[in-house]
Formats: sequence, structure tokens, C-alpha cells
Amino acid sequence: MTCLLASHLTFYLTMRVILVVWLALLILSCKEQEVSNPYQFVIPDNFPESKYSFQNNPITKDGFELGRMLFYDPILSRDETVSCSSCHQQHVAFADPLHVLSIGVDERVGTRNALPIQNMAFQQFFFWDGGVNHLDFVPINAITNPVEFDESVGDIVDKLNASSFYKNQFNKAFGEKEVTSQKVLHALSQFMVLMISANSRYDKYIRNEGELLSTQEQRGLLLFKQNCANCHSTDLFTNGDFLNNGLDTDENLDEGRARITEFNEDKGKFKVPSLRNVALTDPYMHDGRFNTLKEVLQHYSNGIKTSSTVDNRLFTNNSPGLSLTEDEQNDIIAFLQTLTDESFIKDKRFSAPLMPKQ
Ligand code: HEC
Ligand code: HEC
Repeated sequence: MTCLLASHLTFYLTMRVILVVWLALLILSCKEQEVSNPYQFVIPDNFPESKYSFQNNPITKDGFELGRMLFYDPILSRDETVSCSSCHQQHVAFADPLHVLSIGVDERVGTRNALPIQNMAFQQFFFWDGGVNHLDFVPINAITNPVEFDESVGDIVDKLNASSFYKNQFNKAFGEKEVTSQKVLHALSQFMVLMISANSRYDKYIRNEGELLSTQEQRGLLLFKQNCANCHSTDLFTNGDFLNNGLDTDENLDEGRARITEFNEDKGKFKVPSLRNVALTDPYMHDGRFNTLKEVLQHYSNGIKTSSTVDNRLFTNNSPGLSLTEDEQNDIIAFLQTLTDESFIKDKRFSAPLMPKQ
């Protein structure tokens, strides 16, 4: 009797162990699937919450791949000569490696230095003046801008509807063959929100993934925290604010944020840009006036110009400039270089797609 009971008990215990192991394996394999699905939006441990609303536009492989094709296709421009990727190139974190001010159709010159495209899901405001507050609407600006695509959204929809290749792709992505402007914008957003840069040496250092910073880089990080991180804050390296960092005096102030808000106190203020991949995204500032990080550091150190809207964090003992020594400037530059993310600029998911002959 006791023997029977014991064997029952053993059987029962064995079953429990099997059940627990089976459940653990199931959970592990789910986890593994999560990590290995390259089209899943995963927030890096050192990042804040996403600002993008995925409910209206869930990412799918086909939607992402469609966005990727559109991003690289000059069909979006009036004369089919310019694509998003003309001004946003992967090897420099999707900034523009060639032009201080960007060049659109008919070689028309823009007024701003192209911003990199990275970590867009975490941003609330787009463009230097924050003129757009939803990622889905950013491409409309590029499409209709006479110095970029100089095209209408309606024409693009017509061009895409005339292509049996694209109609098939839209069908795969959204379950309907008909191309609409909303689907074009949703596909482009699906592509852009997955462009996350969070694997620089700095990230691996800060997440304890076995990366070390040199003593110079660590000195630079400390100096950066003291002098720069109140504006270039969090691991996105921006507080998302619009500020004047002392580039011009009142006579030469660009409208900046005031173009949108029409407040005088916003003149000369621009979005604090992220500094991720900053070693790749030269030239610097909204008008691309500085070619090197050295020039940027000299500006902050002793080139700050006073004006009615300049930020008072850029003063030392009431005089303009952060007065950093030569060595301190070089240390900060060494630190900024640790923000370069090789895996992002080489990630095959974001490279030019192979397009079939049409
Ligand atoms: C002719 C060059 C050019 C083309 C083509 C172009 N862009 Fe841009 N892009 C820029 C410039 C310049 C800026 C910054 C403009 C500003 O802030 O006023 C910018 C800004 C952006 C931003 C905002 C980044 C941020 O941090 O705020 C995104 C996103 C973007 N572009 C996506 C696209 C997409 C998608 C396309 C294609 C539909 C495209 N761009 C086509 C030059 C271009
Ligand atoms: C008071 C806020 C503030 C502080 C402090 C500050 N910045 Fe900036 N930074 C800005 C703003 C605003 C811009 C954009 C200005 C523009 O283009 O008109 C900017 C632009 C930059 C750019 C150009 C990025 C690009 O993509 O063009 C670099 C590089 C930079 N800052 C580095 C630094 C460093 C290094 C420090 C510390 C020594 C620092 N900043 C301190 C506000 C600040």
C-alpha cells in the first residue's frame, strides 16, 4: 500500500517536474522568438518609452519592407530623380554626407542641414523647428517641399496605383490593392520606427555588456555630464526642448522655433538634436556651419554669442562660453565618438532593397 502510494507520489512529482520544464521551455522559446523577430519593436533597456502610437499602425514584415522600398524609390519625387535616401544615407546614420544644405529636384538648395533618421519612435517633434509633431506626417513635408520632392501626395498615389508591382506590395502589407496616401505614410513610418540606434560602445558600457571606456573617454563622459547633459540629456542625448545655443547675435537670429509658435521669445531657438552617431553626421547645427566636432567644442567653449534668447546654461561666471580647456574639449570629443553605432549603419534591414524589374 505504502509502496503504491510512493509510486503514485513519484509519478505525480515526475509529472510536475515535466510540466514545469515544459512550461519553462515554452516561455524560453517565446522569448527567443521575440528576440529573433527582426520586425518587432523592442525598446532598448536604457531608453525611455516610445512616443509612436502603434495601435493605428502595427508593424508587419510586409509593411516595413514596403516602407523600405518607398524610402529608396525616386518615384516619390516630381521628376523621379530624388529619393528619401538621396538626403538620408545609411552609412552616416541617415544624415546627408554631401551637402551642408540639402539638394532636391532640379538641384534646388534647401535652407537646413538634413537631420539623421534614428530613434524616431522616441521623438515628439520633428524638424529643426519642430514644425511636425507626428512621424506619419513628416514625409508630406519632404514630398511637397519645392526644394525637396516638389510633388503632390495625390500624384504619388496615382503613380503608385498605376504600378502593378506596388499594388501587389500594398495588398501584401495592408490587405488591399488600392494605394492611399495614408498607407504610403504608414509604410514609411513602419520602416522608420524600427531604425533604432542603441548599440554604440557607450550603450554596451552603460548596460554592462562587457564594453569598457578608456580613461580619456571616461573623463569626457564626466565633462559631458557637467557641461552638456542638461540639454543633451537621457540616453537619447536630447531633452526634446527648443533652445538657443548661442550661434548668432540678435541681428542675425534665424526665426527658428518662432516660425511655428510666432512667439518672439522663440527666435533663434532650435530643437536640441540627439548626439547619437554625431561623429558621422557632420556638418553640424541647423545650417551646417561647423564642419568638425572641434569647431563645435570651440563654439561652446568661447564662441557663444549673446542675444535676447540665448540659454543661460552656456555662461560661466556671467560671461558667455563654457570655458573648456583644450584637453577638456578633446576628452569630450573622444567621448562623443563612443556614440557611433556600427551595427546600425551596417544593419541590412535598412539598406537599399533589391527591386525586381518592373
Ligand atoms: C532634398 C533632401 C531631402 C529629401 C529628399 C528628404 N529629406 Fe528628410 N530631411 C531633410 C532635411 C534638410 C531635414 C531637416 C529639415 C528641417 O528640419 O527643417 C529633414 C528631416 C527629416 C526628418 C526629421 C528628423 C528629425 O529628427 O526631426 C525625417 C524623419 C525625414 N527627414 C524623413 C524623410 C523621408 C521619409 C523622406 C522621403 C519621403 C525624406 N526625409 C526626404 C532633407 C531631405
Ligand atoms: C543650453 C542647451 C545646450 C547645451 C548646454 C549644449 N547644447 Fe549642444 N545643442 C543645443 C542646441 C539647441 C543645438 C542645435 C542648435 C542649432 O542648430 O541651431 C545643439 C547642437 C549641438 C551639436 C550639433 C549636432 C548636429 O547634429 O548638428 C553638437 C555636436 C552639440 N550640440 C554638442 C554639444 C556639446 C558637446 C555640449 C557641451 C560642451 C553641448 N552641445 C551643450 C543645445 C545645447
